Amino acid sequence: MNTPSSPAPLVVAEPRLMRDTILAARRAGRRVGFVPTMGALHAGHASLVERAAVECDDVVVSIFVNPKQFGPREDLARYPRTLPADVALLGASGARWVFVPEAATAYPAGHATSVVVAAPAADFEGAIRPGHFAGVATVVCWLFNVVPADAAYFGAKDWQQTVVVRRMVADLAIPIAIEVCPTVREPDGLAMSSRNAYLSPDERRRAVALHEGLESAARHWQAGDDVALVEEAIRAALRAHDVPVDYARVVDPQSLVPPRPGAAAVALVAGRVGTTRLLDNLLLPPRP
Ligand code: PAJ
Repeated sequence: MNTPSSPAPLVVAEPRLMRDTILAARRAGRRVGFVPTMGALHAGHASLVERAAVECDDVVVSIFVNPKQFGPREDLARYPRTLPADVALLGASGARWVFVPEAATAYPAGHATSVVVAAPAADFEGAIRPGHFAGVATVVCWLFNVVPADAAYFGAKDWQQTVVVRRMVADLAIPIAIEVCPTVREPDGLAMSSRNAYLSPDERRRAVALHEGLESAARHWQAGDDVALVEEAIRAALRAHDVPVDYARVVDPQSLVPPRPGAAAVALVAGRVGTTRLLDNLLLPPRP
C-alpha cells in the first residue's frame, strides 16, 4: 500500500506501456486498484483513491476528459483541466500511476465501436443527455482493457453511472470488481463535483437545494409516505431555491424502475442552477 508520503506518481500516456505496467504488477502478485476520472480532482475523487489504496497494493488513476460522453451543446470545451494540481493531489492520496491518454489513442482514426447499455441507461441522465452513457460505457470498456486492474472504484454520487458500469461489466464478462464509494460533500451538504467550479456565489448558495430536497425526502420516506409524496418533497426544495428540476424520482437502486414495497430505494435528483446541471442522490433504507 502507498502512503501519503509516497513519491510523486508516474504519469503514463501510452496505452501499451500502461497495460504492460499493470500486468507486470499483477504477475508480481500485487493487487491493483483503478480509479477512472476526468480530472479537476477534489476530495470526492481523493476518497476513491484513498479507499483503493487501503484495499490494493497499487493504485492507478486515469485522467481523460472523454469527448464522447459530452453532447454537442455541453461543456466539453470549458470543462476544468488542472493536471499539475491533480497529479499533486494523487501523490498525496496514494496513487502510483496516473494514466493520461491522448484523445487520438482512445479514439484512433477510423474508430467505429460503441458500447451501448440499454435499460439502465435509458432514463434520467440518459434521457436528458442522449448518447452520454454510450460515451461513458465505451471509454470505461476501453479503459478496463488498457488498465486491467483487479478492482475499479466509482462514486455513488453518479448513481446511474454505477448501475450502467455494473451492467456492462456483467454483460461483457469484463474481469474486474466494481466498488462503489460514498458521496463526499461540502459542509452544507452539496455533493462535491468538478462542475461546482462553474457556480457564482449566489448559485453556490442555491445549490444546497438538491441536498435539502434529498434530506426532506428521507424524512418522508421514514414516515411511510407514498413514493409520489417523497418525490414531491424533493421538487418542493428545488422550487424554494428557484432551481428548475430535470427529474426527482425514487426508484429501485439496482434496476432504476419503481421500487418494490418494503425494499430499499434510491432518490435521484437533477436540477439546473443557472446554466450548471447538478446531480445528487440518496439511498433510502428498507421500511416495513
Ligand atoms: P468524474 O466526474 O471525474 O468522476 C470520477 C469518479 O469520481 C466517478 O466515479 C464519480 O462518481 C466520482 N465522484 C465524483 N464526485 C464525487 C463525490 N463528491 N464523492 C464521491 N465520488 C465522487 O464520472 C466520470 O468522471 C466519468 O464519467 C468517467 C467514469 C471517468 C468516464 O469518463
